[in-house]
Amino acid sequence: MNTLLFTNANIVLEREVLQGALLVKDGKIAGLYGQNASLPGADEILDIEGKYILPGGIDPHVHLHLTTPNGISSDDFYSGSKAALKGGTTSIIDFITPRRGQSMLEAIAGRKTEAKTSLVDYTFHLTPVEWTENTAQEMIQAIHSEHITSFKVYMAYKESIGLEDDALEMVLRTAGRFGGIVLVHAEQGDEIVRRVQELHRAQKTSPRYHPVSRPPHTETEAVEKIVRMATANKCPLYVVHTSCGSSIERVYEKALIKSGSPVFFETCPQYLLFNDEVYQSSQENALAFMMSPPLRPLPEQKLLKKYFLQGKIQSIGTDHCPFTREQKNREAQDFSKIPNGAGGIEYRMQLIFNEMIVKEGKSIIEFVKLVAGNPAKIFGLYPRKGVIQKGSDADLVIWDPDKDFVIDTGHQWQQTDINIYEGYRGKGAPVAVFRRGRKMIENDRLTGTCKGTFLPRKPWKKESL
Ligand code: URP
Ligand code: ZN
Repeated sequence: MNTLLFTNANIVLEREVLQGALLVKDGKIAGLYGQNASLPGADEILDIEGKYILPGGIDPHVHLHLTTPNGISSDDFYSGSKAALKGGTTSIIDFITPRRGQSMLEAIAGRKTEAKTSLVDYTFHLTPVEWTENTAQEMIQAIHSEHITSFKVYMAYKESIGLEDDALEMVLRTAGRFGGIVLVHAEQGDEIVRRVQELHRAQKTSPRYHPVSRPPHTETEAVEKIVRMATANKCPLYVVHTSCGSSIERVYEKALIKSGSPVFFETCPQYLLFNDEVYQSSQENALAFMMSPPLRPLPEQKLLKKYFLQGKIQSIGTDHCPFTREQKNREAQDFSKIPNGAGGIEYRMQLIFNEMIVKEGKSIIEFVKLVAGNPAKIFGLYPRKGVIQKGSDADLVIWDPDKDFVIDTGHQWQQTDINIYEGYRGKGAPVAVFRRGRKMIENDRLTGTCKGTFLPRKPWKKESL
């Protein structure tokens, strides 16, 4: 039996911050003690001098080693998960995207093999890329036999992985009936294709035309449509990388969410921190920010931030999908061929802590909900993950709220020579990170090499967030 006692801690629980001690036994949280409680003995005692202990972060939206038509993303499961740990994230949810014609179950097996080098615990969202006579059965098997309970659909990219409306409807209906939740990349694919073709005809192909090809209404209208479809099918829905405040506004103004059919919004740090001015700057900068959806005009960014601060966004993912400069430069003259995506897995928690708590005075409990607790509850990992309570995995971050940091591309652990947050200054960073009781990071050094594990999940169940 291996025991570890943290003393003199501010332990961030679901509804309060407990001053006291936390006992870890065999990788699980074994006890919580207030200031006046008598403490158990332990093999190791760590006085953490009043710092916070947070539950390990959960990044619900990452793409490690992603094969795209324009190249493979530059972080693999080892490098990306190492960067995640450095920033306090101990679990990730990546994606399984089969080829059309391939069985989804076969694709699950292949992706699990790729993920074996991960240092953080992991699971996947599964993408039905077509609707065939086998899809419903495979979805049901994924939920009940593979314990993969979330399904990602794309309303864009119809030429490769996106779905037409009738297939979207079938995925929503099946997930809703059999204990799944659907994630949606909500952009109007047909209109975007028309716009890209028009821009090509007019020889407007430089990176600055990328946002012109995907204006805000292509997201807002797609969100309205899919929310209506999901609620009609009584299917829980999670809108990934919401980039426009007006997408959220539309859903609330029109009262589209019905009881018994929840809708969750995720956004990513990049949509809170930047706007579409980046596409008017140097080509080098514009290339770094090539992602879909694109960054939005300032009023949309402001509205998104307003809803984020009002608690109308339930989850923060990164959509971590870095590429190198060389990869971004290969087809730099045609925005439709530049690999889409940017890195963020290493800095998600620090960026959100600084934006939310240091700058806006929000509570640490709200912060923990967004980066750990809510993703765990929405995706069936709670209470094993996302919370500090007796019996949960001892995924713990010792967090110094006063530690200054500056993001420096040259020192990042993300495997790329680009960092869209280069030069960002803030306060608040992990000083040590434990995954299932093992110390994996101490003062920005990797101290553990033991691999992460696949996280089986339960069928979808409503939890109060
Ligand atoms: O531009 C983005 N979001 N790249 C990541 C891959 C994807 O489509 O989600
Ligand atoms: Zn993504």
